[in-house]
Amino acid sequence: MTGALHWTSAAGGALHGDAAIPGDKSVSHRAIMLAALAEGGSRIRGFLEGGGTRATAAIMQRLGVRIEAVGAGERIVHGVGLHGLRCADGPLDCGNAGTGMRLLSGLLAGQAFDSVLAGDASLSRRPMGRVIEPLASMGAHIESRDGLPPLRIEGGRGLHGIHYTLPVASAQVKSAILLAGLYADGETRVDEPHPTRDYTERMLAAFGWPIEFAPGTARLHGGARLRATGIEVPADFSSAAFFIVAASVVPGSVLRLRRIGLNPRRTGLLQALRLMGADIRIGNEGLAAGEPVGDLLVRSAPLHGIDLPPELVPDMIDEFPALFVAAALAEGETTVTGAAELRVKESDRIATMATGLRALGADVTETPDGVRIAGGTLGGGEVDSHGDHRVAMSFAVAGLRARAPVRIRDCTNVATSFPGFVDLANARGFALAVS
Ligand code: S3P
Repeated sequence: MTGALHWTSAAGGALHGDAAIPGDKSVSHRAIMLAALAEGGSRIRGFLEGGGTRATAAIMQRLGVRIEAVGAGERIVHGVGLHGLRCADGPLDCGNAGTGMRLLSGLLAGQAFDSVLAGDASLSRRPMGRVIEPLASMGAHIESRDGLPPLRIEGGRGLHGIHYTLPVASAQVKSAILLAGLYADGETRVDEPHPTRDYTERMLAAFGWPIEFAPGTARLHGGARLRATGIEVPADFSSAAFFIVAASVVPGSVLRLRRIGLNPRRTGLLQALRLMGADIRIGNEGLAAGEPVGDLLVRSAPLHGIDLPPELVPDMIDEFPALFVAAALAEGETTVTGAAELRVKESDRIATMATGLRALGADVTETPDGVRIAGGTLGGGEVDSHGDHRVAMSFAVAGLRARAPVRIRDCTNVATSFPGFVDLANARGFALAVS
């Protein structure tokens, strides 16, 4: 791929010090969208300056919302109210972000004007039928390429509330339905097969929208108002995950990660790693804009393989690439089941991770919904991230413990969720070179 960045990750030293992790991707997308629909100015602090979240901010600007960047990670959003958006003059580019596209499809289905949502090559391969189908049953009309982007969303359709039970646990689908529900007549209710991250629900409440929710269910009525508020975005647990695994597997490491978002629907990796023998302590627990946060102190520890309890899967859905690396370096076998959703992320994460780990000499067996990894040591070699930011960063962690350098192809998309990863990683003990 022309212009793509490749990395080489070599064995570094032990990881030490404090790692400042950027803002949460899920919270940043939602903060921009809800602030844009609110009445008045909202200040967002800790906004993730990543490709995907910036694409969402640029889309809201093209829909007529004034957004001031008042410093890195800080935005003032001059909300236009629920019915104040205006038609954009062409397709809206969500970049690499499935969250942006799926949430915006719900939000735009409720507008009086038509919109087109498009994305990069990876996003253009991701399934959108899962949002199109429930939104259509609310009265929306969305055309796609056989369930794939771009999405043509027809405006001016009167939406009505539905009671929808999600076939797969997905916070993005739940959120798309709830955002459409803001514009719908009557009650919109979503039930989930397993509770997923509840940022949309918490943030709607913070912006003053009446909503009832509990793990696994949420309901609201259309026709209320959002009122501007301040949002402090916690540091992203999913970005912290690479450092948590790195400090766990490199002997002699002691690493502190501050003010990390600890919403229980995100922290399944902590439980999984602890079952494997990891030494991770939580201190300074508090709240940031209604979200639990805390400092993590990670010390290296010998890890052993586990049969991952399947109920942890939705609470660590973005952390599997990092977990697979930990498993490949642990003693004994790790099995993962019930994780078929990994096949429709930014890449097929079961296949990309299994292929890459095998290239480094690991014994990995793919199953339709998971893997079996026989832990041990890793050698050097070349792996392909397939443009997947989390796969790239996970193999950077693998390189720390590999017997020879690991070359990782196509790391450009890391900027989607973790700009500054290479500098931060190198400052804390990685030996990552970019070419
Ligand atoms: C997200 C939900 C998850 C996650 C993604 C962010 C969100 O996706 O993988 O990175 O912000 O709602 P699914 O809803 O597809 O599980």
